[in-house]
Amino acid sequence: MFRKRITAVAVGLVACHALCAAAADTKTVEVMHWWTSGGEAKALAVLKDGLKAKGDAWKDSPIAGGGGEAARTVLKARVASGNPPDAIQMLGFTIPEYAQEDYLQNLDAVASKEDWDKLVPAPIQKFSKVDGHWVAAPVDVHRTNWVWANKKIFDQLKLTPPKTFDELVADADKIRKAGYVPLAHGGQAWQEATIFDSAVMSAGGPKFYQQALVKLDPSALGSKTMEKAFDQMRALRGMVDPNFPGRDWNLATSMVITGKAAMQIMGDWAKGEFASAGKQPNVDYLCFNYPGTDGAFIFNTDQFAGFKKGDASLPGEYAFASTIMDKGVQAKFNQIKGSIPARLDVPQDGFDECGKKSMNDMRAALKTDSMVGSFAHGHAMPDGPKNAVYDVVTHFFNSNQSSADAVKSLVAAVKNSQ
Ligand code: GAL
Repeated sequence: MFRKRITAVAVGLVACHALCAAAADTKTVEVMHWWTSGGEAKALAVLKDGLKAKGDAWKDSPIAGGGGEAARTVLKARVASGNPPDAIQMLGFTIPEYAQEDYLQNLDAVASKEDWDKLVPAPIQKFSKVDGHWVAAPVDVHRTNWVWANKKIFDQLKLTPPKTFDELVADADKIRKAGYVPLAHGGQAWQEATIFDSAVMSAGGPKFYQQALVKLDPSALGSKTMEKAFDQMRALRGMVDPNFPGRDWNLATSMVITGKAAMQIMGDWAKGEFASAGKQPNVDYLCFNYPGTDGAFIFNTDQFAGFKKGDASLPGEYAFASTIMDKGVQAKFNQIKGSIPARLDVPQDGFDECGKKSMNDMRAALKTDSMVGSFAHGHAMPDGPKNAVYDVVTHFFNSNQSSADAVKSLVAAVKNSQ
């Protein structure tokens, strides 16, 4: 459906080339992104400064909305009206989808000069390159199977990071009895999907995760193991406060920072919020793997692609891609953002303990084929099935549906979306 709609507007985009080329001569790069929270905005400033240092100007086009759904919708509309931004933050399968429609700039010239092939891990390159050509520059590697916990609450209740899901359930009970919200959660489909990444991994491990959420194998999707993942979702639903619907992810993080809630299950952009509030890992907060997912690394990588607008826009877009991939920029940006660099040659110095753990865990997971793409953030399956699975997960989380029925819906939804 996406492809047909985009093809239908290709004529409009071609018509724009002459006009757009004139505007692009100024070497101002319009960058569309959804980094509007406190931590995100601070990290973004590193990219802005990096581009300015190359002598180019940054035109900021922020589209608020965690997870980027609003930004993707705006992008479609701008492409349809022949006025795409110069560069845009993109996730996972969205990159090849636009590249296959020939909308994205070829970045091979910068990539080969700077040796990106050797610097970027293969699972990330899978989304940066289409038919062997670089079309996106990856700035970070985020991980979704994290729990962020308030250390003061954990110390007060003598809790240590739970090793199994049952232990997490028992801890949540103690936390609630002590008057805190066990789990800070924002009731938005992408946040529920983010938790589901971890629940599926915890229930079945990396091979099962890949079979179900990457290969979309109906027998894995319809299995008892998948039922267990939904059972975990049901238990987690019981740990949230009544005001969770619609809450933004960073407000949920804030509940943990301020000690209203004990834990949040979220990608490590949450760490950017702790850092932005001046909080330190192992002093103010704890970071640990969602129980049952040690050894697995569920990744989400933010990449920037440039839109074709005639050759005149290339110098600005090349400079931007080169900024994104700069070693110093990646070090500074990721220390603030909560993620780790997409380049493997950035030293660990300057990263906090959670960052170092993530860097070590990613390297270990690369060796055991346990670095898998996040379903929630578009790195496991294309947008069609992804949206269908979102609906199943969020319906389950917000109703009394049984796990057995959810699994049946899951199989049907994936089948209908293909
Ligand atoms: C993700 C993105 C992260 C983070 C998060 C919340 O999609 O990859 O960088 O910003 O949304 O906005």
